[in-house]
Parts: sequence; C-alpha cells; structure tokens
Amino acid sequence: MNPLATRAPLRAGPLPRAYAPTVMVRRSLKPTAVSGMRMSSSDSKVRGNRSISSSQKNQATNGIFLAPQAPHIRDLETAWTHPVYTYDQMRDVRVAHRSTKNWADWVALAAVRLLRWGMDTATGYRHPPKGQENVSKFVMTDKKWITRFIFLESVAGVPGMVGGTLRHLRSLRLLRRDNGWIETLLEEAYNERMHLLTFLNVARPGLFMRLMVLGAQGVFYNGFFLSYLISPRICHRFVGYLEEEAVITYTRAISDIEEGRVPEWANMPAPEIAVQYWKMPEGNRTMKDLLLYVRADEAKHREVNHTLANLNQENDPNPYAARYKDPKQPHPSKGIEHLRETGWEREEVI
Ligand SMILES: [Fe+2]
Ligand SMILES: [Fe+2]
Repeated sequence: MNPLATRAPLRAGPLPRAYAPTVMVRRSLKPTAVSGMRMSSSDSKVRGNRSISSSQKNQATNGIFLAPQAPHIRDLETAWTHPVYTYDQMRDVRVAHRSTKNWADWVALAAVRLLRWGMDTATGYRHPPKGQENVSKFVMTDKKWITRFIFLESVAGVPGMVGGTLRHLRSLRLLRRDNGWIETLLEEAYNERMHLLTFLNVARPGLFMRLMVLGAQGVFYNGFFLSYLISPRICHRFVGYLEEEAVITYTRAISDIEEGRVPEWANMPAPEIAVQYWKMPEGNRTMKDLLLYVRADEAKHREVNHTLANLNQENDPNPYAARYKDPKQPHPSKGIEHLRETGWEREEVI
C-alpha cells in the first residue's frame, strides 16, 4: 500500500440548489467566435428559434450535447459530481515529472513521447525555447489552442474507460472483487469527456480534425486495450506521464492568456456547461478560470495514475475509493488540496 501523504479527504458539503448535481446546457449559452473554427452560431440559432430535438441525429449534427427536449424531462442527472476546488488550490498546481526507475517506466515514457510528437504534429504545436515565445512559428492562437485541447481530450478519455472495462470484465470472469478501481477509472474517463464537451462549446472542429480524431481513437483505443491486457501497470504509468504533458499544455495556455498572447480569451466567459460541472463561483468564470480547473483535473489524473502504477494491480485496494479506519489521518482523496504536498511532486515518488 503506498504511503501517499495527504491531508484529510476533501468533502464537498451540501450543494446550493443552483449547483444541483446535474449538468445542463442553458439556452442562454453564448458561443464565442474563434477565427477559422466552425463556431457554435448555428447551435445558438437552433436553441433560440426552434425546439431542440433530442434525437441522436440532431445532437450529432450540432456536435455538442444539448439539454433534452422531451416534454416531461427537465435535464439529465450525471453519475459523478465534481469535487470543489478552491482558487488557491488550483494556482498551486505545478508542472512535475516522476523520473523513470526501471525499464517498464522507460517504455511508458517513450510511448508518451511518441504520442506527444504525433499530437504536436497533428495540432501544429511547436514549443518555444525560452525567450522565443513571440517568434511567429511558435505563436499559438486561440484556434490552435482549442484544436489542441479538443484533440488531446478526445484521446485522454480513452484509458480510463478501457481500464475500467477490462477490470470489470476481469471481475466477472474470475468471480473476484475489484477493490474499488473501476469507479475511479470510469470517473476519470467521464471527467475527460466533460473537458471535451466543454471545449466543443467553444469551437467545433471541421471535417479534417474530425477525421484525425476518428483515426486517433481507432489506433489508440485498440493499442491501449491490448497493452492493458498485457501490463496494466505500464498503462497506468503511461497515463501518469501523459497527464504530466497535459499539465504542461494547460500551464502554457494559461500563461499565454495571462501575458496577453491570446486576446480573444482575455475576457471570454466559460461555457455554461463548465460553470455547472465545476461549480465555478461568480466572478471566476472566464476561459482562464476554466483552464485552471481543467489543469487541476489533469494534475489529479497524474497523481492517481502514478499512484495506481505503484500498486499491486491484482490485490491492492484503490486508495482513492477507500474508507479509512482513522479518518483523522491524512489519506488520498478525490480533491487536489494536497497536490503540492504529495511526495512525488517534490521527490518524484509516491
Ligand atoms: Fe482532460
Ligand atoms: Fe487527464
């Protein structure tokens, strides 16, 4: 069992009615233009002028999930509510790296670097050396960032679902309990899909990007599925390293906004779906705030997957789903209150 040192688990108290555990896209959602992307203006027209069909065809056409329009349904309940993050906790999130300790870690890290190279190529991203942030070939526009986010999130939602599915099947097949891993993995996949849906409310990719997403999913899903059958431990380490990259990506995007390099997002409000999901407080509902929330989620995934990779895959209980005998002692939790204090971030080990 790993000795991950944390404070007491963050427990969200009763939520105000406005933040009831449902995710709802309000009709007042205002899409914001991002140059060159196919924007949500048609969606706004659909919402404003005629009934929104809940048919799959219409939802697929609109590219985002809309509130259902069945006469007796107000909205849809979600399976998981998001823990509440404070602003200070989110600002405390740091770029961090867990060094490799054996050949299996190297395999995971090499695979992430390969994927990162593919993702950079697909999304037109080139990381600037220090001091060259304003050189044109390195400049990221709002369009380039949102393209990268959408591509990244469409891939990031796969591992949790694959891991959860395979562990579920293993439990059925071997007539053995799972020790609490499945739910955390499925929740991670759900969280990543919420990232994707949020960004799809900012801009919608064109045909080329959709084809890229389609191809990437076909390759990545099958590759990860087979890999998880062979070595779940390497797969969790791989996701841990992948999430390190995600934290880097969002940290750079946040600093681009802060330093005025993405003026379109300077005062742009976050989509309503994000306000509802993260329970974003009044006064902290801009695109920059949104990226702080997403980055914090990625940092949590980084911690969870590096932790799971350290455990005995067959017998150890999931420390994030455990109820501890002494709740006063620090334990892993769903929150991010301890991200700065976790050993691995300072010393690279959990
Ligand atoms: Fe994500
Ligand atoms: Fe993630």
